[in-house]
Amino acid sequence: MHLLDPQHQADAIEQAAQRLADGGLLAMPTETVYGLAARADDDAAVARIFAAKGRPADHPLIVHVPNQAAAFSFVSAFPPVAQRLTQAFWPGPLTVIVPRNPEIATAAAGGHDTIGLRCPDHPVARALLDECAKRDILGLAAPSANRFGRISPTRAEHVVEEFKGQGQGLDEVWVLEGGPCGVGIESTIIDCSRGHPVLLRPGKLTLAEIEAVAGEPVQWSRPEAPDPLAPKASGTLESHYAPRAKVRLMDDERLNAALDVMEPELSAAVIRDPQQAPRIAVYSRSLWAWRPKHKAIVHLSMPGDAATAAHDLFADLRELDATGVELIWVETPPDDPAWDGVRDRLNRAAAS
Ligand code: TXA
Ligand code: MG
Repeated sequence: MHLLDPQHQADAIEQAAQRLADGGLLAMPTETVYGLAARADDDAAVARIFAAKGRPADHPLIVHVPNQAAAFSFVSAFPPVAQRLTQAFWPGPLTVIVPRNPEIATAAAGGHDTIGLRCPDHPVARALLDECAKRDILGLAAPSANRFGRISPTRAEHVVEEFKGQGQGLDEVWVLEGGPCGVGIESTIIDCSRGHPVLLRPGKLTLAEIEAVAGEPVQWSRPEAPDPLAPKASGTLESHYAPRAKVRLMDDERLNAALDVMEPELSAAVIRDPQQAPRIAVYSRSLWAWRPKHKAIVHLSMPGDAATAAHDLFADLRELDATGVELIWVETPPDDPAWDGVRDRLNRAAAS
């Protein structure tokens, strides 16, 4: 692992770009989450991403471009709705899926005939993409820089945690430091390849903001929030963004009721055998003034506004996971469109 800090090393971005030009891997900051990048026009370089992440090779990656003009090299058509959306939201946390130019980025697209494109809005990412363009790199394929199925990294140190000690040549992963990610959850993905726009993954941009620019309805099949008490129906939700601990979502009433039952049980377990007693974490908005009665319960407050909650979400889940708890009880986010992205990530975390 090799950490490049653009604040203290003027040529870090040049070194990073050269690394990518040579077919190497580089973890880069974006405004959403850190990405694990390779040049998108080199299938062998892209294959290293799949190996490093442990990700199946048919899962398509997002290709990052410096601007709309650069995006055109990767497409066979750029539908008008994709034009409107990218015009309005790029650079920014929006990915569009469009028909792919079959001559390029086959590995990055996982062999699919469409491609996901995004122009990130982070000063380090933008400087890197510009430096790459000078080396004739058309775009950077970059999934989130985490092991497959785990929590996306929002700080450079998370990337280091993800890949250290994994072997498989991962000491070869270079990390370009860019500070904590501003948005904190991955980009909104809109599929523009089907004739009508479809929301595949909610993010910071709300459905209403996207529809206003698209000028037409955007289809979205909301995943059902999993019922923590219902038997697990496998395959209904992609299990993703998952900490090691089990995540369960409950509204504040249910959470309070569950704690009323759990607190005395945990106290008894701690008295019986402090070493073996289970520990749980509570991540809630409305219990912010509540203090657990003993150390078997770890409590962290979820921020009360959607943007801050998104910004903190993955770092907070990592922090709770690192305490070694077996369960994380999370208060269901408000049923408000601004929370769609956070709610989606928590539902997926709870589905594993
Ligand atoms: O914010 C983000 O989008 C971050 C940063 C690094 O840019 N990237 C990211 O990439 O989240 P990743 O690979 O972890 O997620 C990519 C998602 C996957 O769910 C994938 O299925 C979908 O994008 N995707 C990519 N290309 C696609 C395509 N051609 N068709 C359908 N889905 C696609
Ligand atoms: Mg990911």
